[in-house]
Amino acid sequence: MKMWAGRFREPLEPAFERWQRSFPFDQRLLPEELAASRAYARALEQAGALSGEETKTILGGLEQIGKKAAQEPAWVAASDAEDVHHFVELRLIELVGDLGGKLHTGRSRNEQIATDLRLYVRKQISETRARLADLIEAFVARAGELGGTAMPAYTHLQRAEPVLAAHWLLAYAEMFFRDAERLSDCEKRVDVLPLGAGAVAGAPLALDRQAMARALRFARVSANSLDATNDRDFALEFLHGLGFVALHLSRWAEEMALFATSEYGFVRLPDRYATGSSAMPQKKNPDAMELLRGKTGRVLGAATALSVMLKGLPLAYNKDLQESQEPLFDAADTVLGSLEMAAGFLRAIEFDRERMPAAAMSGFLNATAAAGYLAARGVPFRQAHAAVGQAVVYCLEKGKTLEALTLDELRKFRPEFEKDFYEAVKLEAALAAHDVEGGTAPARVERALAAARERVAALRKEADANA
Ligand code: ARG
Repeated sequence: MKMWAGRFREPLEPAFERWQRSFPFDQRLLPEELAASRAYARALEQAGALSGEETKTILGGLEQIGKKAAQEPAWVAASDAEDVHHFVELRLIELVGDLGGKLHTGRSRNEQIATDLRLYVRKQISETRARLADLIEAFVARAGELGGTAMPAYTHLQRAEPVLAAHWLLAYAEMFFRDAERLSDCEKRVDVLPLGAGAVAGAPLALDRQAMARALRFARVSANSLDATNDRDFALEFLHGLGFVALHLSRWAEEMALFATSEYGFVRLPDRYATGSSAMPQKKNPDAMELLRGKTGRVLGAATALSVMLKGLPLAYNKDLQESQEPLFDAADTVLGSLEMAAGFLRAIEFDRERMPAAAMSGFLNATAAAGYLAARGVPFRQAHAAVGQAVVYCLEKGKTLEALTLDELRKFRPEFEKDFYEAVKLEAALAAHDVEGGTAPARVERALAAARERVAALRKEADANA
């Protein structure tokens, strides 16, 4: 039985019927639909539209639907309901008879789907933040293990200066901390109850919307019924938040794939997360990282799909809005799965603690330290830079390194060079020189690590509290 058959003389064209149904994908909103329906039934009772007895019967029916759905997923999947709202309506009438129809007094699917989606996004935000906490914990743990291990930092993908490998890992932790914060910021705008907005003009009965908001743990009620039923900004904002997570994952995945090549050789792929080639027996491929990188497309695509769907949409509810759901669900699932894989991979990977510092000691990575040495002796930095640059060219011609030059050779470029130069350009000294907040000096990184531990513990606590 359709929800709206009264006005129609003919049944739907079967192909159209199949094509317009959302139940195949919106059935995942059943827990949200049931929660919102419970809050609505109580509001109807309070408004005098349901008796105490009727309310009890309806609440009992809703509870049974939830239980049976949890025990028998096939029972849900087999339904030919148009959407999740229709499904609950049909099952409730089956269970409690015509009384079930009273739950729809003054209620529209337009506000129901808006409410369900907000409840869903709120749940996904805490889930995603909890998985972000897992991943950040993995970054922090691996950074802690690497201790004083150095590696080259790159700019323009050219070796630039030595840094601690822990400093490099903590750079990613920063990205994911921002992502967690961004999602929690977007939650403020998710936290609004649409229920009571009716189809478009507001419910035609005096419902206590504040009580419904309290029951569903929403901070506020919507201020305008047209906006409430048609607003999907919160979903778009969430998708943009997920887009950032995917972007950051893809950047890290790219670096891991590069660092696992024999050209870099900084990391060894864990067997558990790599795959072989059916053709080339020697191959071990970073498929996990490639998939992380590749999945970014669909997550960013979801935000684009939603933006384009919303563009030019007249107020208020239009069926176009149904198209927001599949990209939303897909992006949310994709990011959760990606975060889980990333954390597992990161915990399993092996860092080559010999090749990383070895790479940091070649390629003139101490040239900036050498220029700094001269600058500390009063040479204007531009002149110091030029002198060391000329010394590098000289080294390249002679096949030498800066620290292998004799004092006489060095003094051809600047007279200020002294014996203590050789200490100043050692890896340890070059690292220690970056003794500034946020810099790579070991003592600074130690403090950054301690701070990251505290921050991730706080994030974990918040995510758990909202779960
Ligand atoms: N399945 C619909 C959606 O996702 C529910 C709302 C339908 N409302 C309507 N007036 N047809 O948008």
